[in-house]
Amino acid sequence: MFAALSRLMHPLRLATVSPEELYLDLLKGCLNRSAFGGDLHMLQPAADTLIGRAYLPVQRLLHHFELRLVSRVSAERVAAGKYWPATAETMLSQARLDNIQESITAAIVEKIPGDLIETGVWRGGGTILMRAVLAAYGDTTRRVWVADSFKGLPRPDAAYAADASDQHWKYRELAVSLDEVRANFARYGLLDEQVRFLPGWFADTLPAAPIERLAVLRLDGDMYGSTMDALVPLYPKVSPGGFVIIDDYELAGCRQAVDEYRADHGIRDELVSVDHTAVFWRKR
Ligand SMILES: C[S@@+](CC[C@H](N)C(=O)[O-])C[C@H]1O[C@@H](n2cnc3c(N)ncnc32)[C@H](O)[C@@H]1O
Repeated sequence: MFAALSRLMHPLRLATVSPEELYLDLLKGCLNRSAFGGDLHMLQPAADTLIGRAYLPVQRLLHHFELRLVSRVSAERVAAGKYWPATAETMLSQARLDNIQESITAAIVEKIPGDLIETGVWRGGGTILMRAVLAAYGDTTRRVWVADSFKGLPRPDAAYAADASDQHWKYRELAVSLDEVRANFARYGLLDEQVRFLPGWFADTLPAAPIERLAVLRLDGDMYGSTMDALVPLYPKVSPGGFVIIDDYELAGCRQAVDEYRADHGIRDELVSVDHTAVFWRKR
């Protein structure tokens, strides 16, 4: 988005930007609200804390009157992607949105076969962008797989020691319904047959998903278990040259799952940093 804006300020350079890039820059700015100078941050402490318990009745009262307690977030913080926005369809940073676009564009240009998937979509913004890139470049063959419980993160599974103290399941704002995500796709005119939803826990849905090959595998499930439950059934389906994007590599559980999986499978493809948390590699 910032790239497109700076180009617009130099009209002579505008001619070098394609309509596809202009559309995708504008879309990214809409999805994370950076185009509107920022977003709002929902004030919602975890329910089992003292502040959370005290805030609950206040929150119920506010909800009754369709009110929310929010603070203003600047466009710079939006671009950094370090908060959970109140209205935006994605919490991804500018760099992570750019990385999705660049990966899919490279897959199209280099003819790397396969569909696109994000495991952990929240309000759907990352997958809306995936569908938009296909639309922008007229790719009618690849599908976008949208995998989520649509009810937030799971409680830690005793089988995964790394998740023992994970608290993500307590955050109600991480639970976004399938209807809401479908409506977000429709808002941008991008809900069609090329978009496939996989509702349920990854451990149940991903092993049986009718996915043949993947050009882009994007993992954004935060936890050790959610990362491993996606890597195990899906990594073997990634085409040579395909992209494996890890959103949460800064989180200890996710990082452990990725490092273990790579070590166990002898994967030495270079890990490339996207921003303070996301990394990706290309499968040889
Ligand atoms: C951080 S959010 C994803 C953010 C999103 N990619 C975006 O563009 O803003 C994590 C999502 O992963 C989902 N999730 C995490 N673990 C899961 C699991 N084991 N099964 C299904 N969904 C899971 C949650 O429901 C939540 O929507």
